[in-house]
Amino acid sequence: MPATIIVGAQWGDEGKGKATDLLADATDLVVRYQGGNNAGHTVIVGDEVFKLHLIPSGILYPHVTPVIGDGVVVDPEVVLGELDGLDERGLDPYGRVKVSGNAHLIMPYHRELDLLIERRLGKAKLGTTKRGIGPAYADKASRVGLRFQDLFDEKIFRQKLEAALVHKNEQLSRIYNRLPMSADEIAEEYLGYAERLRPLLTDTTDLIHTSLEAGRHIILEGAQGTLLDLDHGTYPFVTSSNPVAGGALTGAGLGPRHVDRVIGITKAYVTRVGAGPFPTELDGDIAERMTEHGGEYGTTTGRRRRVGWFDAVLARYANRVNGFTDLFLTKLDVLSEFDELRVCVAYRYEGETYEHFPPHQSIIHHAEPVYETMPGWKTDITDVTRYDDLPAEARAYVERLEELADAPVTWVSVGPKRSQTLVRRDVPLVPGT
Ligand code: GDP
Ligand code: IMO
Ligand code: MG
Repeated sequence: MPATIIVGAQWGDEGKGKATDLLADATDLVVRYQGGNNAGHTVIVGDEVFKLHLIPSGILYPHVTPVIGDGVVVDPEVVLGELDGLDERGLDPYGRVKVSGNAHLIMPYHRELDLLIERRLGKAKLGTTKRGIGPAYADKASRVGLRFQDLFDEKIFRQKLEAALVHKNEQLSRIYNRLPMSADEIAEEYLGYAERLRPLLTDTTDLIHTSLEAGRHIILEGAQGTLLDLDHGTYPFVTSSNPVAGGALTGAGLGPRHVDRVIGITKAYVTRVGAGPFPTELDGDIAERMTEHGGEYGTTTGRRRRVGWFDAVLARYANRVNGFTDLFLTKLDVLSEFDELRVCVAYRYEGETYEHFPPHQSIIHHAEPVYETMPGWKTDITDVTRYDDLPAEARAYVERLEELADAPVTWVSVGPKRSQTLVRRDVPLVPGT
């Protein structure tokens, strides 16, 4: 059976956790394919709130196997903390979660370097989550990373660690004036995690493919978002992995023919955490209301998210680089606040108009948004259960976004709960469900 990719269409925090959880009811496996615990995916079930960082959002369903794929970077201490938390809540994560042996490890020097590099950048800092993500992916690309499988072979673990530490300690002491790290201390800590993590070690590529061959369905759950993609985002203000749909293939070990659905998750406005260009960014009273009404504070770092009007240039671009079959539009309820809404349909820069994402970073930094104004609906829509029962202005807004993004909006979310989701087109992920 073909797989479905769930990908953030903006700068992260679009509601991927909510969408994945909702759709996972009909699936068998939920696979995280990139990123690490820089992600924070919120799932709300009844009165219970789950903030997931590494564990896939399918964990709430007993029939789903949550998988951490090859492309993810894993901090063993964090993953154990998250597993323990979910264990206390009765979800049996130790018996269910599978981790690829090829996933790279986040080491203590990655976390330390993430902090030091940011500090050294001063005003030019990226505003990373300080979880060691960039340094861990850099080591992977430089072929000096340690992988999840290495935790279970002490000799190899120590060998690789000592080799890596030669360079890391030079960097820490010579550039950053820090004390060198001890291989023995790190080995003791990390190898100490191995026993509890061993049951999770899995050949996830084999698991994914035997599952597909047996007719099971898979959701590939993205972290971050398209504009944070290392290749396609607003570089250098990006993360160090590939959240886009192509990254799902490499990160899980699939080919394009294994996937038949790519669902773009997009807020009805835009947010961003950390530094970088943001053409439709707002400040003042409107921003304040959007932030407060939308609860726009980071799930991982608690930082206040920057907010702005919906940007159709970004949406069109995200559709191009991911090839969306559907959009899952979230947080429409947050816009009930406003008398009128603005939608950015193009950018203007030095007398030129750009309907598509500009090719040069400077243009994105200085782009003036060209806005269309639409009437608001000024009614609470959080209890609406059918799309047709939304106020006409809300439907007109959704339909305009759909037209501008050039991808069909299949789901409209009007609150964080599963029940607060309106289905516009009944196209089940798994035929017959
Ligand atoms: P993710 O990283 O893409 O999974 O998104 P986050 O969980 O970091 O941030 C999305 C936030 O919006 C979470 O607090 C969700 O509970 C919440 N949320 C999701 N969908 C909706 C919605 O339609 N309306 C409202 N008001 N909140 C939503
Ligand atoms: P989810 O999966 C929003 C941002 C950081 C920073 C940049 C690089 O919850 O949508 P990193 O620590 O990855 O090196 O930081 O990326 N960032 C996110 N922003 N949501 C996320 O994840 C993010 N993960 C990283 O704020 O600007
Ligand atoms: Mg998030």
